[in-house]
Amino acid sequence: MFLLLSLVWVIIFSVEIQHSHGREIPVFYEIKSDEGIATLAGTERCIININEDLGNPQPLLIVPNKSEFYVPQNKIGDITLQPDEQIELFCSEKFKFPESISDTIVVSCIRNSTVLHNKLPIDFKSIKCDTNVYHTTRPTYQLCFNDSYLIQIGFNVSNGRFLDIIDVCFNTVLETTLYTHHIQMPQNIGFQHSVPRPHFIRGQYFKKTPHINKLFNKNKQKTIFEQTLGHSNISQYLSDEKKSLFLVRGHLTPKVDFIFGSQQRATFWLINAAPQWQSFNAGNWERIEQGVRQLIADRDLMVNIFTGTYGVLAFNDSDGKSNPIFLFHDQNNNSVVPVPKLFYKIVLDMNFTSGVALIGANNPFATIDEIEEEYVVCDDVADQLDWLKWDRKNIVKGYTYACEVDQFLEVIRHLSINVTNISLLV
Ligand SMILES: *[C@@H]1O[C@H](CO)[C@@H](O)[C@H](O)[C@H]1NC(C)=O
Ligand SMILES: *[C@@H]1O[C@H](CO)[C@@H](O)[C@H](O)[C@H]1NC(C)=O
Ligand SMILES: *[C@@H]1O[C@H](CO)[C@@H](O)[C@H](O)[C@H]1NC(C)=O
Ligand SMILES: *[C@@H]1O[C@H](CO)[C@@H](O)[C@H](O)[C@H]1NC(C)=O
Ligand SMILES: *[C@@H]1O[C@H](CO)[C@@H](O)[C@H](O)[C@H]1NC(C)=O
Ligand SMILES: *[C@@H]1O[C@H](CO)[C@@H](O)[C@H](O)[C@H]1NC(C)=O
Ligand SMILES: *[C@@H]1O[C@H](CO)[C@@H](O)[C@H](O)[C@H]1NC(C)=O
Ligand SMILES: *[C@@H]1O[C@H](CO)[C@@H](O)[C@H](O)[C@H]1NC(C)=O
Ligand SMILES: *[C@@H]1O[C@H](CO)[C@@H](O)[C@H](O)[C@H]1NC(C)=O
Ligand SMILES: *[C@@H]1O[C@H](CO)[C@@H](O)[C@H](O)[C@H]1NC(C)=O
Repeated sequence: MFLLLSLVWVIIFSVEIQHSHGREIPVFYEIKSDEGIATLAGTERCIININEDLGNPQPLLIVPNKSEFYVPQNKIGDITLQPDEQIELFCSEKFKFPESISDTIVVSCIRNSTVLHNKLPIDFKSIKCDTNVYHTTRPTYQLCFNDSYLIQIGFNVSNGRFLDIIDVCFNTVLETTLYTHHIQMPQNIGFQHSVPRPHFIRGQYFKKTPHINKLFNKNKQKTIFEQTLGHSNISQYLSDEKKSLFLVRGHLTPKVDFIFGSQQRATFWLINAAPQWQSFNAGNWERIEQGVRQLIADRDLMVNIFTGTYGVLAFNDSDGKSNPIFLFHDQNNNSVVPVPKLFYKIVLDMNFTSGVALIGANNPFATIDEIEEEYVVCDDVADQLDWLKWDRKNIVKGYTYACEVDQFLEVIRHLSINVTNISLLV
């Protein structure tokens, strides 16, 4: 503190009034030399809170010269920079502030939320992009299952870097995502709040289903069900909006599993979603998402999360014939975009030694007998878990259960994780 008061710290061209000992002292700031700054900066760290101190539109916060986001060190979203520590910031187009000819800048910590850019101190909050940073997808053409290949979701950043946040295993024949993968850490519980939801993007995928977004229109869904089942009583499936009995684009990797708004926006790709009943989406599925985030935070775990779909939901028509539900049939009568029978989430530690599979039935109309016969595909060990607050046997909210990872993987066969003896994460 003595150091601070005794130094006349000067910022070029700016005059400020500071309150000190009840007197108003005009302080002229000027940067005399790097040495002067270094002395001053040595006194305090910078704390940048992701909910308080990010400009809008926000840049990406990157570990300098790496392909990694700068992650907050604690669970309330504080990024702490040591004096002089650098952080790289990226905007896809231009910076609105500070002026920069480059799409990437490096700033270093002076104190609190004041950072140094091009030898000028600026407030971190004032740093803004011209537009939201663009997220993109990158097909790898690497096979992840039959007819399926891996696609990365992330950000193109300067110097040819790609910051990957989600990997997707997408089946191009059925136009459905088998699973997504992302990594989750304790800090992710301190995600940025109230980030507006953008529209879902189709991208270069769903080539057979040009109007995929329109299929989620409720009237359109009714038509699809009528065509598939020929029921006169079909309205039961879709009429009751109060009970949320209609299909939505259910996120696989959830929006708020990510810390930064820029990352949350990047979850809105249709390859990261599948048709899911809203009552399940907002019911037990959401409980699972929240429960997993909380578990990871409470136990300080770092985990892989695989979120996927399995099977095709089928309803009987009036002749008692079972009809799988696809949202679209292309001009060659190929059935595409299935409504999955199950949604699941596998939580697996980084060493693949401990984990759990959480599974939910995407059929709010099923009877309990049907659930037990057709939807419970492995030995239910949910009674051993005490960290989930779910209403798990509520069929409308999505009947949910848990299994050993090994056993579940053997049933679905989509993931080629070559491990055995994964202990149950209870
Ligand atoms: C990043 O790379 C640039 C040159 O490519 C170098 O000048 C700079 O010192 C590097 N920054 C860090 C923090 O490594
Ligand atoms: C820096 O932050 C500390 C603690 O929050 C506060 O006491 C101090 O006044 C701040 N300094 C400046 C220059 O804003
Ligand atoms: C993958 O495709 C091959 C060849 O068509 C087939 O033999 C195999 O059973 C398929 N695997 C699964 C798990 O469906
Ligand atoms: C991202 O970078 C790749 C390769 O550098 C390029 O092919 C692609 O068009 C870029 N995507 C966007 C959205 O800029
Ligand atoms: C729908 O109609 C069919 C035949 O009319 C009937 O068998 C079936 O039980 C009805 N479904 C429901 C859920 O009411
Ligand atoms: C569907 O039809 C089959 C054969 O008629 C019947 O065994 C089954 O119970 C029906 N399922 C439902 C849910 O009505
Ligand atoms: C389209 O395929 C379904 C079975 O998937 C079949 O019942 C129907 O008759 C076919 N329609 C045409 C026009 O071929
Ligand atoms: C993973 O394995 C490594 C090396 O075997 C070990 O050092 C580390 O503690 C393990 N991590 C966990 C989370 O078990
Ligand atoms: C799976 O792991 C076992 C032993 O850990 C190894 O012998 C086997 O070759 C592996 N299989 C594949 C397909 O990688
Ligand atoms: C599986 O794990 C148990 C307990 O951790 C251990 O006792 C057993 O030897 C392991 N089995 C194999 C095949 O690794």
